[in-house]
Amino acid sequence: AAPKPLAGRRAVVTSGPTHEPIDPVRYIANRSSGKQGHAVAAALAALGADVTLISGPVTLADPPGVRVVRVETAAEMLAASLAAVQTPAGPADIAVCAAAVADWRVATAAGDKVKKGPDGPPTLALAENPDILATLSQPGPRRPRLVVGFAAETRDVLTYAAAKLAKKGCDWIVANDVATGTGTFGGDDNQVHLLRRDAAPEAWPRLSKTAVAQRLAQAIADTFDPSATA
Ligand code: C5P
Repeated sequence: AAPKPLAGRRAVVTSGPTHEPIDPVRYIANRSSGKQGHAVAAALAALGADVTLISGPVTLADPPGVRVVRVETAAEMLAASLAAVQTPAGPADIAVCAAAVADWRVATAAGDKVKKGPDGPPTLALAENPDILATLSQPGPRRPRLVVGFAAETRDVLTYAAAKLAKKGCDWIVANDVATGTGTFGGDDNQVHLLRRDAAPEAWPRLSKTAVAQRLAQAIADTFDPSATA
């Protein structure tokens, strides 16, 4: 059999939401299912990559052939992602950030359950979470050769995605429309555009999340293929 195109390559994928605690029993979260990120991890592994999946809380099964690190918060996801990307053997080759990381956490989570009281509802002071994609994209010897982000937007998808590519410093952005009615959040299908630096955006047809992942993994493999022309 022909060798798999990503054999010997190391990839780190983030997936799922994060949960940011308010107190021991409550948290802030979002609607990410992790389906797209988990499918990307599986697709990269199917092409031979050594994949570490950093997963927030999801109800999905672990993808086959993938090392899974479970985390809850954005801070934990960042620490796990850095540990997976930066090893004594050098940086991972590929990072794909598909997680829906909470933008904010509660600045000081309560150690005990917050109780209802005569003073009315509590006020939550929020603090900004670290941006994992931007952190992994920072130039330097520890940067993966290819860093891919996702952009979920409800309108002006291409405009916002192009801005995100510049701001985050990643190489590619997979942009998708998550407007109400598209069914993307939690659904099985996705319609995306692939934006690469210095190339025209590619509109992909509406596909299953599995097929989007396979097509993305193949595009990644093509950029690592020494026999492919640039
Ligand atoms: O800024 P926005 O959240 O729209 O960007 C989405 C992209 O950035 C996704 O690839 C997501 O995984 C990544 N991201 C991240 N850490 C954050 C916020 C977003 O890695 N704190």
